[in-house]
Amino acid sequence: MLRREFLRLTGGTCLVHAGMVVAQTQPQPEEGLDTLARRTGRRFGFAVQPSHADKEPVRSLLQQHAGVITAELAMKWNIMSNLLGAPDYRAADQVGALASSLGAALRGHTLAWHQSTPAYLTNAAPEQFVTAQTAHLQALMQRFKGRIHTWDVLNEVIDAAAADHQGMRQSVLSRLWGTDRYPALFELARAADPSAKLAYNDYGMEQDEPWCEARRSVLLRMLEAWVKRGTPIDVMGLQAHLDLSRRFSAQKLLRFFNDLQAFGLSIQITELDVRDASNPGGVAARDEAVAALYKDFMDACLSHPAVEMVVMWNVTDGDSWINRWNQGQRRTDGLPQRPLLFDAQGLAKPAFHTVTASLGDATVKFDMKKASNG
Ligand code: G3I
Repeated sequence: MLRREFLRLTGGTCLVHAGMVVAQTQPQPEEGLDTLARRTGRRFGFAVQPSHADKEPVRSLLQQHAGVITAELAMKWNIMSNLLGAPDYRAADQVGALASSLGAALRGHTLAWHQSTPAYLTNAAPEQFVTAQTAHLQALMQRFKGRIHTWDVLNEVIDAAAADHQGMRQSVLSRLWGTDRYPALFELARAADPSAKLAYNDYGMEQDEPWCEARRSVLLRMLEAWVKRGTPIDVMGLQAHLDLSRRFSAQKLLRFFNDLQAFGLSIQITELDVRDASNPGGVAARDEAVAALYKDFMDACLSHPAVEMVVMWNVTDGDSWINRWNQGQRRTDGLPQRPLLFDAQGLAKPAFHTVTASLGDATVKFDMKKASNG
């Protein structure tokens, strides 16, 4: 039996142990997650690093389930650029080639972000910065012209606590590019590749906490101003780094989606995962709690016609940024978090089954006309 056929029959959830392939015993759907998403006109995918994507179990899981690929790091400015010499596009090209080989849509992440601005520009003069940011945007978009489904043009410029600055984050970008000139990034991007959808991407707006509400308000005010001045933006990217310690309200999320839809934007879930640092239980209880939040979130998303795609931030718990990169969210028991659909061995977790069921049960189709005209 061909490996691909074996994966189809087992739902892609197999373990490779000492050269032996051991299928998981739980029944698996024959269709991968992207195939299920396509039934309602949507796409499903994953953020990856080339060094993970070409090793098992990630490689097989991508073959089975990926219809969208985002570069977790490889298309960030600071990763490809240094003061001397030409930008190094090798990792970005590898991610592009991976998406082509999978027949997956490629999301470009991200053209302007304070965290990925090269360190040598931190103390640049504003004119020098504007020249460098413009040249970077144009060169990267030119390299991938015609191959990108959606570009994250601008990432994470909101900081609701910055009351003196209308909720706009104070950063190297606000200081040297200027918050009032953020729409110009979208204009440059539209001109550089008219075939790519253009997104603003941000976090902390999906759950039912006062600080999320504050971030949603700032966002809606910002988008309203942008849309009024004719900014060429097509998509709101909601990162959806969810957390079990925060409340969730489908009703409030859907009201927020309506507000985004009223601006003519489609919605992409761009970096989905669920942190479980706050759950004191054993693995089974944690996995059930994580799966329940995935179900509530996915059911809400898939009931809205403006939601176009769902992208997970990494593939397995073993390659999740949450476990790889300590952001001060360690569990008190010292165990790794279990934020994704597959465990570190690539086995499907309860969250995989609830996401599969949500995709399989969805009836509301992604409808761009409804997303554009309400
Ligand atoms: O690879 C080096 C390693 O050699 C070194 O020892 C270590 C020391 O700190 O750093 C490692 O690089 C880290 C890299 O992740 C690889 O894990 C960088 O320090 C760290 O800054 C980098 O963080 C990434 C972060 O974006 C900044 O680019 C995360 O992996 C990545 O998941 C994260 O992704 C962001 C999205 O772009 C935007 N939304 C939030 C999301 C999560 O923070």
